[in-house]
Amino acid sequence: MRPESRAFTLEAPAKINLRLRILARERLGFHSLETVFCAISLADTVTIRPGEGGIDLDVGGGIDTGPLERNLVVRAATRFYDELGRRGDLRIELRKRIPSSAGLGGGSSDAAATLRLLNHLHGEPFPREALMRIGGQLGSDIPFFLGGSPLAVGWSRGERLLTLPALPERAVLIAHPGVAIPTREAFERLAELRGAEYRPEASVLPLEGLGAWSTLAALACNDFDAVAAERIPIIPRACSLMRGGGAEITLLAGSGGSIFGIFRDAADAGPAGEQLRELGFSVWPATTLSQLPSPRPAEG
Ligand code: C5P
Repeated sequence: MRPESRAFTLEAPAKINLRLRILARERLGFHSLETVFCAISLADTVTIRPGEGGIDLDVGGGIDTGPLERNLVVRAATRFYDELGRRGDLRIELRKRIPSSAGLGGGSSDAAATLRLLNHLHGEPFPREALMRIGGQLGSDIPFFLGGSPLAVGWSRGERLLTLPALPERAVLIAHPGVAIPTREAFERLAELRGAEYRPEASVLPLEGLGAWSTLAALACNDFDAVAAERIPIIPRACSLMRGGGAEITLLAGSGGSIFGIFRDAADAGPAGEQLRELGFSVWPATTLSQLPSPRPAEG
């Protein structure tokens, strides 16, 4: 049977950053960072099925994802087949649940899931490191989703990774204010706020502190706080509300504009979510993941 005659599906989880320090602006405008990535159960679903010529994309729910060739999922599939040195014929179905431009890595995770599904379909022609290299050329957050663990420290643009053993699952609340912050704009505004005189601080992340939620809570921070608060003034209030409601860690997700809370006691997440809804936020209950999802045969 030709590999493309089979169909596989994979959950593409969102990520939150338990720590996000922006250390320096590089000469070409990109930023060096230090971060702790954590995958959560809020997820899109990517399915690949036999195609009828070339690479086609079907995004459910009438969501406009722009021109086909610019879509990150299609670009990931195209790069995969370029590296494989052959042509791909497949239909990619994408079911979106992760809000876009929300700091949750949805597009990156979809692209990573596409690479993993194609590698699975073709009998794992690329080792993990090769897949991570391909992913890193498409987007800074993609290698994390290919690294094999739901928890990892990332340096440089996030592609230099130290994977860590997962921590015990915790309840997570994702809250989105309905305002998107494109990543590029967040980095540009941060650079403006810091000014030309900005000198990078040394950031020393004690790696031994990353093996427990309590020590991670003490290291939790996000350098985009000021950018997000300027753009979406209700964010600091929503964060204090989540903290008051029992969250052990409350931060902006990535470069914003969504926020998250991690709860030691899952029963606290429901009432906190209700209060955030009253404030006008969309809310998704989730958990941290103890392992990344695996490809499985698709139905239908
Ligand atoms: O990697 P990604 O495509 O998500 O990045 C979007 C934009 O965010 C980049 O084009 C760049 O302007 C900015 N960025 C940055 N430093 C990073 C990651 C992203 O300046 N480490």
